[in-house]
Formats: sequence, structure tokens, C-alpha cells
Amino acid sequence: MAHKKRIMIAVGARPNFMKSAAVWKALKRHPGFDLCLVHTGQHYDREMSDTFFRELELPEPDIHLGIGSGSHAGQTGRIMIDFEPVVLDIRPDLLIVVGDVNSTVACAMVAVKLGIPVAHVEAGLRSFDRRMPEEINRLLTDRISDLLFTTEEDAGRNLRREGIPGDRIFFVGNVMIDTLRANREKAEKSRIHERLGLKENDGYRDYALLTLHRPSNVDDKRVLEGLLSVLSDLSHRLPVIFPVHPRTLKRIREFGLDDRISFDAGEGWPETRASNGRLWTLPPLGYLDFLSLMSHAALVLSDSGGIQEETTILGVPCLTLRPNTERPITIQEGTNRLIGNDPETVARSAREILGGDVPKGKIPRFWDGRAAERIFRILKIYLGMEKSG
Ligand code: UD1
Repeated sequence: MAHKKRIMIAVGARPNFMKSAAVWKALKRHPGFDLCLVHTGQHYDREMSDTFFRELELPEPDIHLGIGSGSHAGQTGRIMIDFEPVVLDIRPDLLIVVGDVNSTVACAMVAVKLGIPVAHVEAGLRSFDRRMPEEINRLLTDRISDLLFTTEEDAGRNLRREGIPGDRIFFVGNVMIDTLRANREKAEKSRIHERLGLKENDGYRDYALLTLHRPSNVDDKRVLEGLLSVLSDLSHRLPVIFPVHPRTLKRIREFGLDDRISFDAGEGWPETRASNGRLWTLPPLGYLDFLSLMSHAALVLSDSGGIQEETTILGVPCLTLRPNTERPITIQEGTNRLIGNDPETVARSAREILGGDVPKGKIPRFWDGRAAERIFRILKIYLGMEKSG
């Protein structure tokens, strides 16, 4: 038998874990693939990392770089410096990177310069907003990757417009949705509704779910204060459950906005909820609890990338608190609406959804739970394990 092909998968931040889990599971079935998982340590809190590895049944990383937080240049640079000797040592036949976080671009750059081919999963998404750090990461990673796996047809069009040869681009579907589909049943067993005291009432749909972490929403005091005020107002009408990203918590404290939320969510939650028009804040949740909450929400408000896609599959209305999206299909075909961060618009849009003006979505092509399987088949051919055709 031909020698095994070494495939390295690099991950670093929370949204990478659900995507790489699907890829890992598809590739590990092949006896000819020797897999190596590297965690940069961009995210390191238990709730931001370990919980996901456990719930998604990802193995312990073979290598953990323990990079941690820092400025963009500091974090990206440190990842590159520490990742290089790992690649030199292991000499993979291929590196797989996923998504658009700093770890994605840092690892891709290292491998490419060492002559290792790079496959980018979730390539070609563009917000056309270069103020977003992720947009820079996406542009650079795509430019230097050898294989570009896309989730929606717009992404392929973006890549071709940028001059990337069509034979490197593969429309395979959405690996994050593979993971969602594989875990839906398990998520139904989550006790999170009970823990939060949410009553079963018309399938629980009597609360809103909120996440906020984009620098453009949380790093400016005026913007964050406006959002917290309007969402606190909304919580007079229905509970607004708010698992708080560490970056956002840091800013809330720095800006002295603690009074807008009911934040004593140390060990003590679920007692953190308040019925007096404050947000029900929680520490970041694990994958299954969050999926369960999302599946049954009346409304999701978020500035995340992935949540726009997950709510589309779940058929739950999503108001995206951003001026643009790199995932246009969630608007064209899904349940997503872009509303920006102006408090009045947020309030009006939430009222509309709660008043029954709910977008009816459909399932985008290839978001069928088999995207990682398609990647597997393409890699077998690319790595010479199987003939094409
Ligand atoms: C990163 C990604 C973003 C992704 C998000 C999901 C980049 C440029 N951004 O943003 O695309 O949507 O992850 O969560 O890569 N912190 C902790 N504990 C942790 C991780 C972070 O306390 O485990 C705090 C630190 O104060 C850190 C801040 O959060 O400085 C920001 O973390 P960082 O990894 O720089 O970016 P995110 O905002 O998490």
C-alpha cells in the first residue's frame, strides 16, 4: 500500500471547532490518511474551547501552541512563529484551515511558504468590508490556498472574480451545517431550558437569544450602550437570553455598563436572570446548549457569521446586527435579515418579527450534512489516493 498521506488540520477559535469536527470525522475513516490536529490556542477559556472538543467528540489536539490573546499583529505573528517548527517537524502533505479567524491566515501563510499545499474550508465569502479583520483574513487565505472549498455559489463567483483559477474551487456545501445536523438530536436532550426556568409553551418559543462580539458593536461605548439599552427594553416583552463572549464582558466592565445587564454570572447562574427588563446574561454556552436554545427561540439577534447560517437551517428568524454579511445566501434563501446596529431599527425589526412577520426560509443547496464527505472525496483524488472520474 502507498505511504500514508499526512493531513494537518489547524484550528484556533470557537467557530473553527464545529467546522473542523465534520472534516475530521469524514477524513479519519480513511486508513490511508494520517491526521494531525493542531490547536493554536487563540481561544483558551474552557467555555470557548475545551467544551467544544468534548461535545463534538474531537480528539485532544496533537499539538497545542497555547498562543492566547493579543493584538492582531501580535497574535498572528506569534502563531506563525510557533507553528512553523511544527510544520517543519511533521511535514504534512496538506494543511487544512477553516473559516476566517487570525489562526486561519497565520497557519496558511506558514504552510504555503514551506511548500505545503493548503486547503481552505469556507473559502470565498466576502463582506466587502475591509474594516472587518475577518475580511482581511479571508482575502489573504484564499489568495494563497491551493484548494478552495466553498459553502455557497456566491463564494465561487467572488473567487473567480478575484482571478482564482476555477479548477481550484470546489462547491462542497457547509461543514458547519454537517455538524449541526449530526448534533440536533443530542441537542434536544439539553436541559438548558429547564435550567433557565423557561417554560414549555408552544415549543418554548417565548424568548429571544442574543450574541454580540464584533469589535464594531462592542468596542465603541456609544454603540454598545445603545444596543444594550434597546435589548434591555425588548426584555420587558420577552426574556432575552444573552450568553456573553469574553471580549464583550471585558468591554461592558470597562465602559461601566454593568447596570444594563444582570451580570452576576459567576458560578451562580442560572440565578442571573432578571424579570425587570434586563438581559439574562450567561457565560458562553457549550455547543449543544446553544443549539438547543437557538432551535426553539422566537427570534435570534446576533452579529455572528455562523449563526446566520445555523438559524437558516433551523428556520428561526435571525436579525443580524451588522451593516453587511459575507453570507448573502442566508438573506436570499434563509431566515436572516440585516439590520445594522441602530437602536431604533433593532427595536422595530424585533417588533415586526414578534408580530408575525417571519421570513420563510428554504435550505440552501448542499447544506445537507454531506459537505465533509465531498471534501473527503476531492482530497483523495488530490492526494493521489484515487483516480478521478
Ligand atoms: C475571534 C475571531 C472572530 C470570531 C470569534 C468567535 C479573529 C480576528 N476573530 O474573535 O472572527 O467570530 O473569535 O468567538 O480571529 N478572550 C478570552 N478568552 C478566550 C478568548 C478570548 O477571554 O478564550 C478575550 C480576550 O480578552 C481577547 C478577546 O476575548 O483579547 C478577543 O479574542 P480574540 O481571539 O482576539 O478575538 P474574538 O473577539 O474572540
